[in-house]
Amino acid sequence: MEFDSVVKKRHSARSFSKRKVSWKFALDAIELANHSPFAGNHNHLKFILIEDSKTISKISKLADQPWIAESSLLILVCSDDTHLENLYGERGRVYSRQQAGSAIQTILLKLADLNLSSCWVGAFSDEIVKESLGIPQHIQIEAILPIGYENKSHSGKKPRKKALDNVVFWEKWDNGNRPTLLTESEDLPPKEEN
Ligand SMILES: Cc1cc2nc3c(=O)[nH]c(=O)nc-3n(C[C@H](O)[C@H](O)[C@H](O)COP(=O)(O)O)c2cc1C
Repeated sequence: MEFDSVVKKRHSARSFSKRKVSWKFALDAIELANHSPFAGNHNHLKFILIEDSKTISKISKLADQPWIAESSLLILVCSDDTHLENLYGERGRVYSRQQAGSAIQTILLKLADLNLSSCWVGAFSDEIVKESLGIPQHIQIEAILPIGYENKSHSGKKPRKKALDNVVFWEKWDNGNRPTLLTESEDLPPKEEN
């Protein structure tokens, strides 16, 4: 699928049909996430795949989000901050969150590309989810990604996104206009350089 369409197609789904999702698709998405940028190229992400419907129901209850139980597969995205913190101090922890976010987005985009649906779930109590899955204390759970085939009859309105001129400043903070003195560059996308 064309890149822009995949990005725009991705949305948070919170209702799924009973059709099961193959774990192989989750591995395809995780494989791509492993190609994300990583500070110093240190990838300390771990992914827990959960297919057991009893465990999925349990996580759904622990997160207090009943719709999660409709999904047939979960990916828990986890990070170990230790190494990046040792290398970069407090900043290392920031890097950990940032690179997990970038990997999560890659997973969500690949799932959309495969016509699967998901939602980035961040609202849950780390402690009880860690305890129930045997995740060590020092590991961060970055997100829970419930995956399924969306039940489109229950999907809500697509959320509106901000227009470009609400988010872009030019040259300095809070300047919404591009200075006219700047010279124009070519408009055509560059060809790949060797
Ligand atoms: C860090 C983060 C945490 C989120 N946590 C939840 C969550 O716990 N439950 C949920 O239903 N959606 C959650 N979302 C999804 C957002 O609600 C959703 O992305 C937003 O409403 C925009 O909709 P869209 O994803 O369809 O573009 C989370 C998203 C992010 C980025």
